[in-house]
Amino acid sequence: MKALQLKEFGTTQITTVEQPTLKPDEVLIKVHASSINPVDWKIASGMLAQLVQQPLPMTLGWDLAGEVVETGNGSRDFLPGDRVFAMKEIGKDGCLAEYCVVNRHHLAMIPQQVRTEHAAVLPMALLTSWQALIGAGNLHRNQRLFIQAGAGGVGHMAIQLAKVMQAHVIVATSSRNVDFAYEVGADEVLDYQTQDVYQWLEGNPVDIVLESLHGEEQVKCIAALKPRGRLISISGLQPETVAAAEKANVKAEFVFVQPNGTQLHQAAELLETAQIMPHISQTIPFEEIEHGYAINQQGRTRGKILVTFPSFR
Ligand SMILES: NC(=O)c1ccc[n+]([C@@H]2O[C@H](COP(=O)([O-])OP(=O)(O)OC[C@H]3O[C@@H](n4cnc5c(N)ncnc54)[C@H](OP(=O)(O)O)[C@@H]3O)[C@@H](O)[C@H]2O)c1
Repeated sequence: MKALQLKEFGTTQITTVEQPTLKPDEVLIKVHASSINPVDWKIASGMLAQLVQQPLPMTLGWDLAGEVVETGNGSRDFLPGDRVFAMKEIGKDGCLAEYCVVNRHHLAMIPQQVRTEHAAVLPMALLTSWQALIGAGNLHRNQRLFIQAGAGGVGHMAIQLAKVMQAHVIVATSSRNVDFAYEVGADEVLDYQTQDVYQWLEGNPVDIVLESLHGEEQVKCIAALKPRGRLISISGLQPETVAAAEKANVKAEFVFVQPNGTQLHQAAELLETAQIMPHISQTIPFEEIEHGYAINQQGRTRGKILVTFPSFR
């Protein structure tokens, strides 16, 4: 089968590899579609080499939607032919391959009315939002939430999940994404190209910040929080941010997304009832994945980039 392999840091290639074999508790999936996440090309470049949990070569890509081919012993909850989706564990063999194996606890069924492409782009962005906002953030009704990068994969899912939780959602985007963020459900959109977002937030503080940009803007998020507020970082906490949080009596926490079939099952219900809907801005064939990575590296992706396999076209 064909797979996108990371041979050594800086070198990726679509090559022919052996189809993976099933262990108990695993399910063999024919992959129909996947999506691009920044962690893919960050790991490939060596920038996040510390996340790699196995010897190279390693198959990249961690979001998938596909069809069950075979189940290992003990995986009676899924049957051949079932349409399923999952996020695989980051740093271990991924799913940019014609077939992959997934732990059954990481899988969820795709409801009949839900399109494969929507399920394929959802897992990492949704699980990150879920684990950051509902898990670490304990977000609840009427709380004020600021999402630092509202138009990206995580940002646009976090807006929708926060609206399901009935929070008040404030986001920042570039000028070209202001309308998009409102369409997705944001209550207030701050255009970082025409206004000082952090000065505005200091005058209008929030309960929770979802931070994803790293760099000098991270520490500015502390002053955007109400007393006892929470900064949830998905970019990694900087020492000056931790110090500023302590001084301001607010919590600062890093969240690293984990696979979770139960949360995906609940997300599937939200998709089925159109309470959440991922936005696909571009579709890239698997054979042109490097082009997709180059686009995502520019940092301007609106919503998600879908990756399709020949079996799905
Ligand atoms: N810790 C974890 O578990 C975890 C999980 C998932 C992702 N992440 C990380 O979180 C980050 C976001 O991931 P993603 O999948 O959402 O990436 P993405 O889809 O590539 O995000 C791109 C978006 O970022 C926005 N953006 C760029 N600069 C901005 C700025 N200065 N202010 C506001 N928005 C800005 C862009 O909107 P504009 O064009 O409007 O600026 C664009 O829509 C990445 O660094 C990723 O590695 C971490």
